Amino acid sequence: MGAVEYRPGLEGVIATETSISYLDVDHEEIVVRGYNLLDLARQRTYVDVVGLLVHGSLPDERGRAELERQLLAAANVPAELWQILRLLPRQMDAMDRLRTAISALGGWDQAANSADPEQDRASGLRVIAQSATIVANLIRVAEGNEPLLPDDRRSYPENFLWMITGREPSAAEVRAFDQTLIAYSEHELPNSTFAARVIASTLADLYGALTGAVASLKGPLHGGANEAVMEMLLEAGDEEGLERLIRAKLARKERIMGFGHRVYMRRMDPRAQLLKETLAQLVTERGDPEGEKLLRMCQRGEDVMRSEKGLFPNLDYYAAPVYWVLGIPIDLYTPIFFAARTAGLVAHVVEQHAHNRLFRPRVLYTGPRGLKP
Ligand code: SDX
Repeated sequence: MGAVEYRPGLEGVIATETSISYLDVDHEEIVVRGYNLLDLARQRTYVDVVGLLVHGSLPDERGRAELERQLLAAANVPAELWQILRLLPRQMDAMDRLRTAISALGGWDQAANSADPEQDRASGLRVIAQSATIVANLIRVAEGNEPLLPDDRRSYPENFLWMITGREPSAAEVRAFDQTLIAYSEHELPNSTFAARVIASTLADLYGALTGAVASLKGPLHGGANEAVMEMLLEAGDEEGLERLIRAKLARKERIMGFGHRVYMRRMDPRAQLLKETLAQLVTERGDPEGEKLLRMCQRGEDVMRSEKGLFPNLDYYAAPVYWVLGIPIDLYTPIFFAARTAGLVAHVVEQHAHNRLFRPRVLYTGPRGLKP
């Protein structure tokens, strides 16, 4: 087949067939194996969504309990991995630590050194469980402290949140956190998922594909935005401060983190609406004046960006204040995004290995020709 038209950033290009998910922008629906992601977030749990993504169907009560047990049984990591993380430079970014951890993890799973979809599923479930334990302890271990390991009396989201904060979470906090995990779990073909599929398409293994996804997700144009949103809200201090800060940034032609989206363009990311409701519910139930102030600030930011740029928030804009209210360190916001997205990433690597076609696009050459060496 001859080369087709060049689309910068592959904007609008269909790069693969998939039965995993689809962003139906016109109907404002994020379809995940036939379900609306927002329905899943409101009615099911992240572990249910793991079953849907990795095994292809929503588990029943018994199936979810069994999957929860499997994830708990697989949640520990080799002690040597903590040693590796302790040897890394203290000032290393949490996402770079996570990239090292995911890459090293493959060393203890030699069976995964294949492109077998069934092995991908088995190893993938282990990585989904281990990612939560690793992410929750990235800062703790970097500071030379012992990791906090999962407690077999707790659910997956409760363990994850408890390992992060070291504090007993309330049921409302666990529920809010679980909704963010579902919101982050899968989203069609973002840069990091595409990176994973491109790597898997050479028949490279799951850990290599996931390592590439971590590297991509760190970027501020992608997963790194949630941390930048929180930094912006803290710098702004209040509603008027945020309006001034946004206007000043726009005047300098800077991007406002948490706004805009390649696919949603000038529409609201449905997940942002969901997490806005999650934030409102959390701060109302807690009677949290600081949380209520954050919510008002975010609304002001929305109003300014809509009137000045015709832009709407993406999920990172509201995930950040939810994580702040939950007492999560800002450095862990993007690592949590990765841990939640491992469910979708595993599904995409399984699908790529099962129906593979090597990704090898062409170029529009603009350099010189005919030079003599
Ligand atoms: C995620 O793909 C996914 O699904 C990703 C994700 C997932 O679940 O995996 O949804 C997660 O990555 C969400 C996005 C998080 N990133 C941010 O919040 C960073 C800020 N956003 C922007 O950098 C931007 O909106 C992108 C990167 C998200 C999308 O950029 P595009 O599609 O390349 O848009 P563009 O650069 O062509 O911008 C179009 C116009 C430009 O204006 P003009 O130059 O035409 O006048 O919109 C403007 C841009 O300047 N614009 C912004 C803006 N985003 C776009 N202006 C100010 N602030 C912004 N955030």
